[in-house]
Formats: sequence, C-alpha cells, structure tokens
Amino acid sequence: MDTGTAAREPVIRLSGIARHYRMGEQTVRALDGVDLEIARNEYVAIVGASGSGKSTLMNILGCLDRPSAGEYRLNGRAVAGMAEDDLARARNRDIGFIFQSFNLLSRSTALANVMQPLVYRRIGLVERRRLASEALSRVGLAERMMHLPNQLSGGQRQRVAIARALVGRPSILLADEPTGNLDSATTVEIMALFDRLHDDGQTIIIVTHEPEIAERCLRVVRLADGRIASDRPTERAP
Ligand SMILES: Nc1ncnc2c1ncn2[C@@H]1O[C@H](COP(=O)(O)OP(=O)(O)OP(=O)(O)O)[C@@H](O)[C@H]1O
Ligand SMILES: [Mg+2]
Repeated sequence: MDTGTAAREPVIRLSGIARHYRMGEQTVRALDGVDLEIARNEYVAIVGASGSGKSTLMNILGCLDRPSAGEYRLNGRAVAGMAEDDLARARNRDIGFIFQSFNLLSRSTALANVMQPLVYRRIGLVERRRLASEALSRVGLAERMMHLPNQLSGGQRQRVAIARALVGRPSILLADEPTGNLDSATTVEIMALFDRLHDDGQTIIIVTHEPEIAERCLRVVRLADGRIASDRPTERAP
C-alpha cells in the first residue's frame, strides 16, 4: 500500500449513511443521510437532543451496527465489504470504545480488565500483562492494578475503561457520554486525560450532553433528527 495516500485518507468517511428501524407500520429514521469525514488526531464532540441519533452513529462508527444505506470507510476500507471475522478484527484493532456505565468485568482486577481485549490477538501472557500495566500507568492507575472495580472510585473505574480502550493502540477512541455518571470534579479529571491523549496523537470522538465538554474538543458536530445540523470548530481550534 502507498502509505503517503493512507496518511492523507481520513480515519472515518461516511457518505449518505442511514439507519432505519422498522417498528410495525412505522419506520424510525435514527440516521437519515449523514456525510462526515474525520481526520487523524481530530478531537470531535457529537451533540444533539435525546433521540437525535448520537448513539446510533457511534455504534456504526464502532462497527457494532451496520447502516441501512450509505458507505462507511474506516481507514480507507469499505466496512460493508468486510467479512465477519475481518470486521471483528477491525473492531478489536481500530476502535477503542468507552461507555457511560464503564462496562468492566466486576470480578476481574483492573489489570485483568485491561488485558482482556488483547486475548483475541496473538500476544503472549507476559506481553499482555506488560501492555496492560503500561496502559494503566498512562491513565494514572499504576498503584491500583490489583483492585477490583468495586474497590475503585467512579473516576478510577472510568480510567480503567479508558486504559482498556487504549491498550490495543486503536486508531479511534469512541466515547459515548463518558462522564455521564461522574461528578463535576471527576469529569474535569477525565477530560484532562482525554486532552493529554489527544496531545499524544489519539483521534477522539465524544458524545456529550454537556456544553463545557463539547467546547473542550476542537470540533462540534450537532445532530438533529438523524442529520447533521451543524459542524463547526470550537474556540480552542487552531
Ligand atoms: N433498536 C432500536 N429500535 C428502534 N428504534 C431505535 C433503536 N435504537 C434507537 N432507536 C431510535 O432511534 C432514534 C435515535 O436513537 P439514539 O439512541 O441514537 O439517540 P441518542 O441521540 O443517542 O439519544 P440519547 O441522548 O437519549 O442517548 C431514537 O428515536 C430511538 O428511539
Ligand atoms: Mg445515546
């Protein structure tokens, strides 16, 4: 592959993406013609009213769901053309997902939670442990690796989830309301962590209801009724 071309190719390119749900006689148009390009190292907030399609969009970006129409190119490759195992590999390697509810394994230590995504790769146990402890150190949890989720604060749990999303060095970090369950001081702490990851070159997309978080990013995409209503740089954008 010509790496020069690959470097210029957006990480994400959506053209005419729709996601319709048939509900009896009715069709819900959760997404209705979305065109969006996101380049490497962008820092994007997705905002919009409840029901505007934000989570539906994130699920498509994360290859957890497929669109009803339109084309999604991830790192230059058409997702629709990928076979199921190819798609699973893309999901595991290219995408780091962070949820509002952390989604940690409650009976596994922080370290084991972060090692988990590497199980699907051909990486030995010692190397998995090394990569996971490195990821936990990156999020400031070097001293908490052997704690279970219920022995950690909410902010610490979310940092474990962020380490788990990062451990495979994904090209995109997708976070759906990552601070929705956190108090304001912890929210500030988590946003400072996202800022640092962005400075280190990570591409980040965050769904949020909170205007302060959206303005922390460099670009804000607003959805309304399954379409992009606006797409603008924030004040912080260079
Ligand atoms: N599995 C489904 N079946 C039918 N309709 C669905 C399904 N998932 C989502 N929808 C509908 O699609 C629309 C978009 O939902 P989505 O979850 O993407 O909204 P959202 O912007 O994430 O909202 P919120 O801010 O409340 O999380 C809504 O009208 C919702 O009811
Ligand atoms: Mg949602």
